[in-house]
Amino acid sequence: MTVSRRQVLLGAAGLSGLGALGAGVGQWLARPALNPDYDYRLTAAPLEIELVPGFKTPALGYGGQAPGQLLRAKQGERIRVRFTNGLDQATTIHWHGIRLPIEMDGVPFVSQLPMLPGETFDYDFVVPDAGSYWYHPHKASGEQLGRGLVGPLIVDEAQPTGFVHERVLVLKNWHVDEQGAFTDFSVPREAARGGTPGRLTTVNGLHLPVIDLPAGEIVRVRLLNLDNTVTYRLALPGLSAMVYALDGNPVAPQPFKEYWLGPGMRIDLAVKAPNTPLKAPLKDGLFRLAEFAVTERSTAMVQADWPKALPSNPVAEPDLQNAERIAFNFEWVGGLSKPKAEGGALNFWQINGVAWDGNDRSCLTRPAARLRLGRSYIFEMRNLSQYQHPIHIHGMTFKVLSSNRKKITPYFTDTYLLGRNESAKVALVADNPGLWMFHCHVIDHMETGLMTAIEVA
Ligand code: C2O
Ligand code: CU
Ligand code: CU
Repeated sequence: MTVSRRQVLLGAAGLSGLGALGAGVGQWLARPALNPDYDYRLTAAPLEIELVPGFKTPALGYGGQAPGQLLRAKQGERIRVRFTNGLDQATTIHWHGIRLPIEMDGVPFVSQLPMLPGETFDYDFVVPDAGSYWYHPHKASGEQLGRGLVGPLIVDEAQPTGFVHERVLVLKNWHVDEQGAFTDFSVPREAARGGTPGRLTTVNGLHLPVIDLPAGEIVRVRLLNLDNTVTYRLALPGLSAMVYALDGNPVAPQPFKEYWLGPGMRIDLAVKAPNTPLKAPLKDGLFRLAEFAVTERSTAMVQADWPKALPSNPVAEPDLQNAERIAFNFEWVGGLSKPKAEGGALNFWQINGVAWDGNDRSCLTRPAARLRLGRSYIFEMRNLSQYQHPIHIHGMTFKVLSSNRKKITPYFTDTYLLGRNESAKVALVADNPGLWMFHCHVIDHMETGLMTAIEVA
């Protein structure tokens, strides 16, 4: 199927999908004037950053920053990003976790043609859900994300919440050596295992930064794992914190202890800053990622009570009684189709017996599943490997129902961290027409087979 035909086919369907962009002329006119604060002019371009003191790293940035510029939108409103490719290679932007029309999803040859150097594209969509999201290319992902093309997209709730203060923390381990030079983003023997990890931990592009907290206040701390490979085992010893949202979607507030945040995943915490000076680490297992610091003193707790739960997002509740079940097996096959020098893709990983090849566009005509628009489905996901996989779906949000490894309180997400040898069930309503990528967010795994497409029509 050619791109243009697909765009026509999916474009028409996509416009009626979420009801937002396709609402018709009348509603366009009735919509209040656009808030210019929510419109962006964004460029991806090379830039030098200093990750290792005294050394330059040839990064790639969005909006002159790596990690990229923070974008904000308001729930239920449009965000318009006029994006220019200032790189010397093709790219796109994918909006991770946002339920949007397929033609805005940023997948080359599905949503749009790859954007060549110098080209501009207008991303323009309504954001139905509030929460912590992010954006990144869906092209040459190992290198482009690895060099810094990852940025947070924060969607503010339509109504004010109980939070006044906020910190956005982007976690990324850079693939650099002691001189700040890039090392390999992907090493085959690592890709065949847990993925190739970077060695320098950073929060907002800084190694071991100090993050100030206002004394006596409660702060919404948004932690975003925008790393290619690493699952952070987050803990905040020394501070009192509650979990408010997972991957953008609110949960009933509950005490925060430890959380495994896989690549692509996000967690929103409420952190209570004491009213006397304090230093407390943000930890990844035994290691430190950053230090929270309260430097001032306030006479009393300014804000003593935890805010109430965040309002839930308008995600359709799957009809579990009538849902059709679909099995997805994630498997290690450990092979080379043929040597890379001969143009063969590495395929260490498969979904239902098929390794996705990002260079073979005919893969797009063989989605792993075809869902009927409006129907509910239960995905029975089985990890048949010794490595964990953050399984991510585009365009829709699924509800995690159960796992054979841990007790699950059902919650909505776009990315589920499927542990080694774990089986888990998730459910969704196929309410967004399009061809949606479904893949592991360990970029090494995704680029060596662990990806497929799900068609909703
Ligand atoms: Cu962050 Cu294909 O996604
Ligand atoms: Cu995505
Ligand atoms: Cu994986």
